[in-house]
Amino acid sequence: MPGARITGWGMAVPDKVVTNDDLSATLDTSDAWITERTGIRERRIGGTTSGLGIEAGRLALKHAGLTGDDIDVLVLATTTPDAIVPGTSATVEEGLGIAGGAFDLNAACSGFVYGLVAAHGLILAGARRVLLIGSETLSRITDWDDRSLAVLVGDGAGAVVLEATDGPTELLGWHLGADGSLRHLLKCDHGGYLYMNGKEIFRHAVRAVIDSSTIALQRAGLTPADVDLFVPHQANARIITAAAQRLGINPERYVVTIDRYGNTSSASIPLALVHALNEGRLEPGHTVLLSGFGGGMTWASAVLRWGG
Ligand code: UT7
Repeated sequence: MPGARITGWGMAVPDKVVTNDDLSATLDTSDAWITERTGIRERRIGGTTSGLGIEAGRLALKHAGLTGDDIDVLVLATTTPDAIVPGTSATVEEGLGIAGGAFDLNAACSGFVYGLVAAHGLILAGARRVLLIGSETLSRITDWDDRSLAVLVGDGAGAVVLEATDGPTELLGWHLGADGSLRHLLKCDHGGYLYMNGKEIFRHAVRAVIDSSTIALQRAGLTPADVDLFVPHQANARIITAAAQRLGINPERYVVTIDRYGNTSSASIPLALVHALNEGRLEPGHTVLLSGFGGGMTWASAVLRWGG
């Protein structure tokens, strides 16, 4: 059976930086409140989901030494598609000249990890190369007069190329979960703005990350002590710290980028992963734990043995 390995990665964020002080100029909020309650200092705002996705995807392809011609399937994880129909993956497919199929995947902030598990499945089913992108423009569905959400969101995209390999697969264990009875906690109706019950989501999120990560690690025959790098969804620095503490993972072993990008939904995990890679925090043989949670509610964890 073929294994799968990540061979390329890239990220894209809009140029426009919006600081907490910028938001405080028009909203009843402050840098102190936002920093203390969320860990966010600034975020990037602008662009389109397809545009950012194309930019990140192009870099990932280049890094892997490939072109769109080499890709059998494009999976675009997004909660903020450019349109309802067609899928935003169609625009990205054209932009990158993808030879194979293309589809959107919406599992809210868990989307990238859902996509990662699906991409490994596609390779098991015979695909040679899959491009997986998480791209979001949450700013477009945010009411900028609503301080409770405006301070949290950011735009961006991250991408990875997965290739079939004769060697062992990188994916050692995974866990996907959903509870639709909690879908009222985070939603955006057609033509409306994002709504979130932050307190309730917070409560469920910490539990979801811990439980889902633990199951994925167990399936890999590992424990949190084996994790070299934990890449959590970046929704709130307090959620990351609480979950990591309970898992017994110290700060040297987890990634925080929420200070720079805010919550970018399904782009947050690939953005954090690419940052960690650019900082040289991952070496071949390292064990990587990715864990996300979000609207649905959904949650998802994956354990990788990094091939490099
Ligand atoms: O991406 C996946 C899903 N999303 C999440 O995982 C987010 C999870 N939730 C959270 O991160 C946090 O609940 C928030 C950051 C959204 C809110 O933090 P909190 O500590 O739960 O604050 P809160 O909602 O309990 O609000 C505390 C106070 C309230 O005032 P009172 O009632 O104590 O007088 C709010 O009105 O802070 C007030 N507040 C603000 N003050 C200044 C709410 N938003 C703001 C703001 N600036 N932006």
